[in-house]
Amino acid sequence: NMRRKLVAGNWKMNGSLVANAALLAEIKAGLAVAACDIAICAPAPYFAQCQAELAGSAIAWGGQDVSAHAGGAYTGEVAVSMLQDFACRYVIVGHSERRAYHAESDGLVAQKALRALLAGVTPIVCVGETLVEREAGQTDAVVGRQLAAVLDVLDAADLARIVVAYEPVWAIGTGKTATPQMAQDVHLALRAMLAGKNPTAAVEVKILYGGSMKPDNAAELLAMPDIDGGLIGGAALKAVDFLAIVAAA
Ligand code: G3H
Repeated sequence: NMRRKLVAGNWKMNGSLVANAALLAEIKAGLAVAACDIAICAPAPYFAQCQAELAGSAIAWGGQDVSAHAGGAYTGEVAVSMLQDFACRYVIVGHSERRAYHAESDGLVAQKALRALLAGVTPIVCVGETLVEREAGQTDAVVGRQLAAVLDVLDAADLARIVVAYEPVWAIGTGKTATPQMAQDVHLALRAMLAGKNPTAAVEVKILYGGSMKPDNAAELLAMPDIDGGLIGGAALKAVDFLAIVAAA
């Protein structure tokens, strides 16, 4: 396919000014001419640092969450305008950790995706089933419900401007990875759903895999026809691992 791959690191709630400086310097120093798009999704307090360190490089940066509201009395929330102030290109929405620990509903995730999209910040919309759901044969139904909520609020014309990330919850941070074929099956089902909304855009939308993607399994996952990159947690915190995954893409 013609889709350029995207390798996005999700730092989650890790880092410090000192640690980030070292990590970013090591990544920049080790980066060959990349054949893929690269992004780092950092905690909001480090947007300025990412902008200072990464502007002019081949690496984009972004957030891990955004408010569904434009602004106002929402203590602790981060508005998309604030991401824009620091030139964030991407923002993750609906990560399973937000869904599980902050009770984010499909509807709220959809509003967040829409808020980002309308501001020109690319939402990386995460979907994924739990182990219980997979074992009950509900994988396609669960990810279908999660994606449908987002598709419901988007104009078909805007569909090509989102990124989707399939992250089986049981594979996140566990060292268990979906086999390439298991992931491919879900990615294909997601692309079919996208095609139902806009067939042309569905060909262009990147669908990333996330869940214990590491240097030793990245190549086989990224070789699958509907896997267009990775959303990398743990391995994004080590420059050598992140660079190896970028090189595999
Ligand atoms: O957003 C990233 C995913 O949650 C994957 O995390 O690579 O540590 O399993 P992980």
